[in-house]
Amino acid sequence: MDEACADLIGGMIRIKPRAVLGLATGGTPLGVYRRLIDDCKSGLVSFRHATSFNLDEYVGLPEDHPESYHAYMRRNLFDHIDLPLSRAHLPNGNAADLEAECRRYDALIEEAGGIDLQLLGIGHNGHIGFNEPGRELSTGTHVVELAEATRQANARFFNSIDEVPKRAITMGVGTILKARTIALIAKGEDKADIVRRALEGPITTDCPASLLQTHPQLIVLLDRGAAAKLSRLSPDLSGGSTLPEERTV
Ligand code: PGA
Repeated sequence: MDEACADLIGGMIRIKPRAVLGLATGGTPLGVYRRLIDDCKSGLVSFRHATSFNLDEYVGLPEDHPESYHAYMRRNLFDHIDLPLSRAHLPNGNAADLEAECRRYDALIEEAGGIDLQLLGIGHNGHIGFNEPGRELSTGTHVVELAEATRQANARFFNSIDEVPKRAITMGVGTILKARTIALIAKGEDKADIVRRALEGPITTDCPASLLQTHPQLIVLLDRGAAAKLSRLSPDLSGGSTLPEERTV
């Protein structure tokens, strides 16, 4: 699955060296990033002319804090590939005027020509980026209060839950859905329920990832665990016995 996803991104860059990539943080993309680093080091792919925009960043966490998404991206990808840092964008969660920062970020994405390929994880509560379930969703980049469930899920990266920031800047669902292609990735049985809700349940703001059903070019990459509860798989995929341990859907 990591390889399939890295090939998708590498393929996009080979076809369009100036591609604009949407990137994600969290545990799920780590294997994809490791493969992209290998592919870049071996000369299979070059990010020299590419541009990237990350989905989100915590508010108020210094950029050099190890758990900031700036630091995550440098550690897990940017420090090891040839993408110029000047074109590797993340929202600035320490901007004095956060509203202005959100507008700046959207304008920057527009100026770059929009996102060609957006890599997207999914939270256990169905969030995409930090667009949390609720009565309403926002279109553009905006400041969010993080759901308690999200803070608890991310507490594993901090010393305690008290250190997990309470707010973040995130691309909105409109920004995400404007990407020309979206690659949704999920791993592990603990994601099986939410993957099913997102892909087979009703389209609702209670599960922001369900809006992805409306996207004309959605590619879903799941391991066997995350795919386990989908009903619309071909019979051979739900059977199990002849399947490899991991399978791309
Ligand atoms: P994870 O996070 O990859 O760490 O599971 C996904 C998300 O919250 O979007």
